[in-house]
Order: sequence, then structure tokens, then C-alpha cells
Amino acid sequence: MHTQRLQPRDTAEAAEILRRGGLLGIPTETVYGLGANGLNPDAVGRIFAAKGRPQDNPLILHIPSADWLERYCGDIPDTAYALAERFWPGPLTMVLRRRDNVPDQVTAGLDTVGMRCPAHPLCRAVIQAADVPVAAPSGNTSGRPSPTTAAHMLEDMDGRIDAILDGGPCSVGVESTIVDLTCTPPRLLRPGGITLERLQAVLGTVEVDPAVTRLMGAGEKPKAPGMKYRHYAPKAPVTVITGAPEKSAQEILRRVGPTSGIICFEEFADLFREQEVHTLGPVGDKLVQAQRVFDALRTFDTSDVTEIFAQCPDNRGLGLAIGNRLKKAAGFHVVEADSERVVLGLTGGTGAGKSSALRAIRSLGGEVIDCDALYHEMLETCAPLRDEIGVSFPGAFDAAGQLDRRKLGQEVFSHKDRLEQLNGIVARHLVPEVRRRLAASESKIFAIDAINLLEGGLDQLCDRTIAVTAPLELRVRRIMARDNITEQYARLRISAQQPDEYYRGKCDCELNNAADTAAAFEMEAREFFQRLIDTIKEEKAHGKQGI
Ligand code: TXA
Ligand code: MG
Repeated sequence: MHTQRLQPRDTAEAAEILRRGGLLGIPTETVYGLGANGLNPDAVGRIFAAKGRPQDNPLILHIPSADWLERYCGDIPDTAYALAERFWPGPLTMVLRRRDNVPDQVTAGLDTVGMRCPAHPLCRAVIQAADVPVAAPSGNTSGRPSPTTAAHMLEDMDGRIDAILDGGPCSVGVESTIVDLTCTPPRLLRPGGITLERLQAVLGTVEVDPAVTRLMGAGEKPKAPGMKYRHYAPKAPVTVITGAPEKSAQEILRRVGPTSGIICFEEFADLFREQEVHTLGPVGDKLVQAQRVFDALRTFDTSDVTEIFAQCPDNRGLGLAIGNRLKKAAGFHVVEADSERVVLGLTGGTGAGKSSALRAIRSLGGEVIDCDALYHEMLETCAPLRDEIGVSFPGAFDAAGQLDRRKLGQEVFSHKDRLEQLNGIVARHLVPEVRRRLAASESKIFAIDAINLLEGGLDQLCDRTIAVTAPLELRVRRIMARDNITEQYARLRISAQQPDEYYRGKCDCELNNAADTAAAFEMEAREFFQRLIDTIKEEKAHGKQGI
């Protein structure tokens, strides 16, 4: 079969191919799909043949809007519309009860069907013109990494499909998130372009299917049949190294030989001069990592490396999906770098008891990184930080190079956008410095103490973030006594900061200080941290990384 190359102007022709039962390579915002008319059982059957896909693995139906849900699904819960409202068109697939008009070939005999409304404009134009739901798995040969460009899809499908519509590289790069809405609570079957946190914001509790984080045992059945197959796998065996990027890089360095292949963050590429390296993108940019992860795996397919080591982002945000793809490629062969090390991030307003909490951590042998002190140190010593502040805040430094704190303070505290700008500059320099300090230290327990822990990216270095909070009236009295100030001024200082709810909502856990004395709180805090540290270590030992 000759596979026609179609260009963006050819959407009518692409739609016609679908209508007459052909197979079309179709761009979506996640990955390229292998599309056919989802109401035509023969056409759907040809998808399985072209991919070499096991018959028990159901397909997703792609529709142009949530209005089409009722045509193919029954018992649709309100949550489906709430999710559609928030995330469609976009990289989210919902598993719903099917109606009888959906062919068995699509659902592989299940009584549910996966529904997705893609965002890619060309894909939408084709579906609309074809006026049928499009059944489409990812456009790779079964078992290979999903294609994120037309060229990658052609590597697998040239000669096996009628045409491919070239829509450029996919912007998301990993497949859609799949959430099953037929159970309570809803269940995440595959992490993808819409993060778990965003789903939770709409749905509340979301269970994570075990197949997302670990290998299924022989008798176990994941809810998404596709999750049981070894997948995305290059020819050479893959080992994923989790943990803080510095630590995982060190761990890989200890293991590599000249014929190893490396998938690593950009910052560490120089460490592996002898090896073939594909970078995932910068440590802090999960959007780029998602776009590149399949390309990296795919390129290693044609390479002679004998083994592949991959660094892996943490599980937050898109990291869960990126890590899942890497770990699946590794058959869940995952090694935790330095599982003994625990990094806690502490934040919270004045008077809540952060100092006592930090004393408790020190008493457990922990090392504290005081980011406020570090910032002030860097204002003296870090030339790139000083330069950047000097450019954005002219006059902040005097002729002798001394920082005029009052002047800078006045400017940022009277203009919110200027404060944000300064915080952005500081974060850009502070986060790498904290990272360096973590890497250079031999300690096993760390506390990062920062008022802006959650805004600048420091939280990414932490195993857990902890909000230290306290009842308002207690805080007022403590600050009055501690700093010898009036009640009115104490209240003013508190109200100038974020309220406890802010920290409570954004941190992983909360340490509330309602104790009568600082000593009593320190004891409580010590027990709290000991338990937390034990839990984190246990999770790391089992490769769970906090979900
Ligand atoms: O982003 C995406 O979702 C891409 C693009 C092309 O839309 N499609 C995609 O399809 O990744 P596929 O077939 O490669 O992966 C679909 C996954 C499979 O693991 C399948 O088992 C699961 O979804 N799935 C499909 N229907 C299901 C159902 N009714 N219940 C549970 N899992 C289902
Ligand atoms: Mg697939």
C-alpha cells in the first residue's frame, strides 16, 4: 500500500479517507494517532492489523465536542461534564459506560468506552469534516514509543496506512490522561497531559491505578488493558534512576560504561562525554521533558548501545506521566538514588513556630538551609544575581557596589509586579545554589526553610513540603512577646503575609502549632518529623516517590 503524505490544506481529503473506511495517520496535541471511522468495525479491525495490536486492548473514540458524548455513552455522570468544561478540547480521556452503537471492536468487548476530544486544530477539522467519531490508538507499532512527529509515525506505518496528515511536532508529547468515571472514587488509569493535581482540583479524591507506578503481577489485571504490556521499549534494557537530579546523575556515573546510552536532564549532559546522550530538557521544565521523552526512547532504538540509564523527574505535575513512560520502557526496573536522603521543605507565616520546627529537625540530625540567609549572602557574593538585579532595578546598588536595601525594599513593597519580578530573579539563582549545597553535603536529612518555598521551584527539591501554621490569636501574642511590639503592629505584620490557608492548600502536609510553650511544640514537631522521615524512607525503599 502506498501511504500518501497529506499537508495541512488537505483536511477534506483526510476526512474522505476516514469516511470510506481507510486508515489515517492523524496529528493530535499529545501524539500522532492511527485513526479510522469508529463506527465501521472493518476499518477498526484494520487498525489492529496495522499496529500488530493485541485484540484485547480497546481504542479511544475521538469526538469534536462534549455534545457527542450522549451519542455513544450512557449513565454519564455530572463529573464528566465538569471535566469536559475544564479540560476539553485537550489531552484527557474519560472512560464511560458505552452504548450499543459502539462496535465491540472499539471497546474490545468491555462495557465501557474511552472518550476524548482532542485540541489539535487539524485533528478537529478532520473529525468535523468526516462527521464520525474517530477510533485512534497512538500511531506506533505495538510496543514501540508513541510517535510525536509525522516522520516518526512513518518509520512504523509507511506502507501500512492510506495516508498521514502532517501537523508538525506534537505540543504535549505524552498521551492523554485516562480517568475512569465509572467507579467511585474516579480512578487514574494512565497519567498524561492533564496532571493528577488538576484532575483532583475538579474531582476531589482520585485513586491512582497500581499499574501506573509498578509492574503488574502475573494474576493482576490493570483497568486499562494497554497498561499491562511492556511498552515504549527500546531494544537495549532501560534502568530508570529516580531521586534528586544530582544524586541520580552521580548514580548513573557510577554505573556507566562506554557502550551505555544516557537519557538525562540538560544540566548533566556534560558528565557523560563518552556515551551516547539524549537530553530530556532542563530539570525544571517538565513541558519540554514530556515533548522529548518518546523521541529519546525512539532514537535509542536504532543505536548500538547495550544498556540505557535514564534520569527521571519527580512525580509532581507532568512528572508522573513522564516518569511512567520511562518506567514502562524500563519494565519498571527502577533504582532510587540515595534512598536514605530526605529533604523537607518548611514554610509558613511569622509567629507560627517555624524556628521551633527547625530546631526539632536539627535535633534529629538534620541540616537546615535557611534561604533568607542564603539570599542575603548571595546578594553580597553572587555576581550574576547582583547583575540581574542591577539591570532590572537601576540604582539598587550604589557606586561602591553596596546594595541599598531600603530603596529596593520600598520599590518592591509598593509594586506587586516588581516584587514578583525580584522574586523571579532570586529564584533563578537561589534554586541552583540550594541544589549545589544539597549535592555537596553528606547529611541525610535536610530542611529547606523558605518563605517563598512554593513559588520559585524550591519545592521541587523536596520530598515533602510542610506548612507550619498556628491559630491567629496565638501568633499575635507570640510575635508581640518575641519582638516586643504592639498588638496592632503584630496584626499588621501577619496580614501582610499569606494566610495559613494558602500554605495549607499548597503544601503536602501541615504542622499546626497550638502548643502552650515553644518547648512543648518542639517536642511535638520532633515526633511529627520523625514519623514523616520514616514514611518517606519507607516509600523510597519501595520506589513509590510520594503518591
Ligand atoms: O493521547 C492519546 O490518548 C492518544 C492519541 C492518539 O489520542 N491515543 C492513545 O491511544 O494513546 P492508545 O490506544 O495508544 O492508548 C489507549 C489506552 C490503552 O492503554 C487502552 O487499554 C486504554 O487506553 N483504554 C481504551 N479504552 C479503555 C476502556 N474502555 N477502559 C479502560 N482502558 C481503556
Ligand atoms: Mg499507545
